[in-house]
Amino acid sequence: MAGKIGESEQSAKYVGKAVNRVDGHSKVTGAATYAAEHKIDDLVYAALIQSTIAKGTITKMDTSEAERLPGVKVIITPFNAPRLSSKSTPSGRSLLLLQDKQVQHDRQNIGLVIADTWESASHAASLVKVSYKQTEPQVEIEKHATYEKLKSTTSEIGKQISAAGHKRGDFSQAFASGAHKVDQIYSTPMESHNPMEPFAVIASWEGEHLTLYDTTQAVFATRKTVAEHFDIPESHVRIISPFVGGGFGSKLSTWSHVILAAMAARKVNLPVKLVLSRAQMYGPVGFRPKTIQRILLAADKNGKLTAIRHDNINETSHFEDYVEASTHTTSRMYACPNLITSQNQVALDIGTPTWMRAPGEAPGSFALESAMDELAYELGLDPIELRVRNYPEKDPESGLPWSSNSLRECYKVGAEKFGWHKRNPEPKSMRAGKDLLGWGMAAATYPTYRMAANAQVTILPSGEALVQAGSQDIGTGTYTIMSQVAADTLGLPIEKIKFELGDSTLPRTPLSGGSMTAASVGSAVQLACQTALNSLIKTAIADQVSPLYQAKAESIVARDEGLYLSSDSKKGERLTDIIKRNKLKQVVGKAESKPGNEDEKYSMHSYGAIFAEVKIDSDLVRPKLTRMVGAYGAGKILNLKTARNQMFGGMTFGIGMALMEHTLIDPKLGRIMNADLAEYHLPVNLDVPNLDVIFIDEHDPHINPLGAKGIGEISITGVAAAIANAVYHATGKRIRDLPITIDKIM
Ligand code: MOS
Repeated sequence: MAGKIGESEQSAKYVGKAVNRVDGHSKVTGAATYAAEHKIDDLVYAALIQSTIAKGTITKMDTSEAERLPGVKVIITPFNAPRLSSKSTPSGRSLLLLQDKQVQHDRQNIGLVIADTWESASHAASLVKVSYKQTEPQVEIEKHATYEKLKSTTSEIGKQISAAGHKRGDFSQAFASGAHKVDQIYSTPMESHNPMEPFAVIASWEGEHLTLYDTTQAVFATRKTVAEHFDIPESHVRIISPFVGGGFGSKLSTWSHVILAAMAARKVNLPVKLVLSRAQMYGPVGFRPKTIQRILLAADKNGKLTAIRHDNINETSHFEDYVEASTHTTSRMYACPNLITSQNQVALDIGTPTWMRAPGEAPGSFALESAMDELAYELGLDPIELRVRNYPEKDPESGLPWSSNSLRECYKVGAEKFGWHKRNPEPKSMRAGKDLLGWGMAAATYPTYRMAANAQVTILPSGEALVQAGSQDIGTGTYTIMSQVAADTLGLPIEKIKFELGDSTLPRTPLSGGSMTAASVGSAVQLACQTALNSLIKTAIADQVSPLYQAKAESIVARDEGLYLSSDSKKGERLTDIIKRNKLKQVVGKAESKPGNEDEKYSMHSYGAIFAEVKIDSDLVRPKLTRMVGAYGAGKILNLKTARNQMFGGMTFGIGMALMEHTLIDPKLGRIMNADLAEYHLPVNLDVPNLDVIFIDEHDPHINPLGAKGIGEISITGVAAAIANAVYHATGKRIRDLPITIDKIM
């Protein structure tokens, strides 16, 4: 049988190693083409016009001055926009597409100028005078979800528990009789994604066929949504997205500007390029919504949890319900017989929120893991000890066994590496010179998802292999990991693998979200390679001239660019010899790989433990993260280099969440006040200390053929709580509202 990566680790030359990015050279030299960089003939440029109010009606758009600018071709507004009359409701997000004159949020796309240069288009867009009939916007979730309201919501939870909630045992009784309790409200702010590459698209029509060069985490979903908006068959739409400069969830959806660019291209009958400015991305392309979460915990005198309740309310828009599933993880993180969770939304005059790295888990773990720290102090127990005492031996929600679960190893190994045993638990007891020193920790978990995926492998007479899967590389290293999987499975050097992705004409794969690309697409690539090899093996064993003539297929392995008997490493021949002798033009392997019923037999998740050290400057009370250790059980780590890199990214994302990121809205005007990277603070190098990432050696035979669990989102989960817990340890101040800024500590 062809190489099986999950099983014969020792034979893997690339998988599991710190292999350099195969696309690294093209990225650093600028050869990699991002959405706005594709060279297209006869290109014209679009610039968006966005609303400067958050709520109201557009009464007039005076385009006369803009139209007089040289180079301006057309200005599309709600007053002249082509009507989109889809037969059915298009899939994907609910989009505002100039079909009416209503303004529902700040920076809503309300028009676009098409001109022969980007400069003319942008200048003209700035000259369009918009008149509104304004209404007072509602943008404060606190007005609708006060502590009192949360309390009354939760007491009536039996009645209004949503589909998104969980319930087991008898919470009320268990909580009432608890020996030690926590009952607190935690909140997390609106956050904006800010990928390095802004949203950008080039739309080009040829008759009824549309090609979009887009920056997307989902080429196939984009194709579907776009086709539905224009009432054309999916086969008439092609999405090309070979490189994506980050998305973090924002690029999982097709937003209005993509449809508007295609609308504009049809109108001018030329290819149109539309790039959003940084400021234009605060509103119409999603954000992480503000959450308000109430957590109630009760434990017996031994620190065993007896009751958990977690109620989440998040903001959403008036035109789409977005659920931030903050309570999901809570139902299975700890063994506890009595539990209730609920999720509710408050509609405001804002754009629609969307998934941002570990949607649900990131804000949810801040609340739950902060509350666990509070309970540990309440009990006088070490926070790790509390968590170990409540470790669930099986999934407390489904009752299923874990496919694998290294959470206890994560606590142990992480604590050792961090030096946790030297911690004096007393708040304000540890110092570094004049500064207060704080050590905190938190646990993390993220589900392992996998969806059906396809791949195709073509082994060429040259001995090289072309491997193809629609998919996306959102900066995570998909090109590299898939090349490793293909090289090991085919027994070829990685230099002889050419991997293609980011094109909806390639084999169908899922979106790059939910940390599932490695497991889904990797399994398909492996299977396609095995399929191609099996066809070559068949040829060889039927070929009288082959040294493998009449050998058993199961006894043949692929290695060193050839097929050899596993029992006799000299007996066999090179792939190219089999291909040439049999006059094959190429050998193709196609495969679809999909999950079976393993999720009915096992509960499948990644785990982690995060340890953070903060110093609180004695003069300025400024919290500074000085050290962080994360220990993770995430299945097979396919590439140590790109994996560590991705963990660093996620942990850094968590630092931003804990200490700085906050999209601020003017409560009166409803406008975003910090729509740029000068005012929207993200961690820079000085904010990010040495990050230590440890992967537990984990073998999960149940989860998928590669044994990989995915790492994109567990990397941020728990980080904000670990830092908040460290701040409490340093200062004795419990900050339950992110981000943790100086004013809140003072
Ligand atoms: Mo992730 S928020 O599923 O890109």
